[in-house]
Amino acid sequence: MHPSGPAAPIENRKLKIENSSVLSLADLATWSFDGTALAVLGHPIKHSVSPAMHNAALAEMAASDARFRSWSYFRFDVPPEDLPGALPLFHAKGFHGLNLTVPHKIIAFAEVSEIDPQAKLIGAVNTLRRTDSGWYGANTDGYGLAEGLREGLGLALKGAPVVLLGAGGAARGAAVECLQQRCAALWIGNRTVDKLAPLVSELKSAANGTPIHTFALDRPPRDFPARCIVINATSAGLRATDPIPIDLAALGTAAGVYDMIYNPPRTPLLQNAEARGIPVANGLSMLVYQGAKSLSLWTGCAQVPVATMRAAAERALGL
Ligand code: ATR
Repeated sequence: MHPSGPAAPIENRKLKIENSSVLSLADLATWSFDGTALAVLGHPIKHSVSPAMHNAALAEMAASDARFRSWSYFRFDVPPEDLPGALPLFHAKGFHGLNLTVPHKIIAFAEVSEIDPQAKLIGAVNTLRRTDSGWYGANTDGYGLAEGLREGLGLALKGAPVVLLGAGGAARGAAVECLQQRCAALWIGNRTVDKLAPLVSELKSAANGTPIHTFALDRPPRDFPARCIVINATSAGLRATDPIPIDLAALGTAAGVYDMIYNPPRTPLLQNAEARGIPVANGLSMLVYQGAKSLSLWTGCAQVPVATMRAAAERALGL
């Protein structure tokens, strides 16, 4: 926000800071806000729809509960090398909660003072809640995925065969959720096969006897069970020129295809699946529900206005 020169003091800027404002560590250095501050940290961060989603929810919650009138959600661009130093500063400045997005989820994991058991299995955090002594770290992405599958496809992970595409951070979080929900079996496919064995060995403690199989994305097995749930956790589809990550002919009669990508809203994978008559859903519902769970963790409210969050996210994305 202040590319040159000292940052101006920030005082009660709730009304002045738009959802679109991108703040920096220079802003944090002079931060003073007498409400309850939340923020998302990322690099880059300007495309994040989280401020729009959370501020819309907080405005609605404030209408019936005066406690939330002073709450506001900001966004900060924090380069990854600055994150370990920045987290204690956000704490010292009184922030109540933080979201972490790319590339901070794994870096922040090492910086928290307490950790939620599921976040520990994933090895990454996307939500921090203030404690007296530091930050409590949680990961709401798995909850977001499970709720997204329920809402978008009417499917539950429990007892279902799951075919997961990808072996990066997003896939790891999805795999832990599938295993914790006791899916029937998990197939993990990746373009780079060398990443599969280390991932499976890291997932052992979460597997609890659930079979995990692996495959190369360009050589999928022919024996995926009928009615499997397909989850795309690769980044293939983010760009218009990306290839479709798997040949859908291999997937037979899948129960549904869920693409964690929400922008663009209909990736080639989803278009192909739809053309085959397979039910599809994109990752917008996951985005909304991971945010809703974070907001619950910060506010202590089990119910938060999910529909308002979705409408705000859609508006911010221009959908
Ligand atoms: P994230 O944290 O979002 O999971 P990541 O850790 O960089 O990001 O992982 C990206 C995933 O998308 C990886 O599984 C990657 O496959 P590789 O391990 O082979 O790199 C996958 N991916 C990216 N582009 C892809 C493409 N064009 N086709 C198939 N998979 C792709």
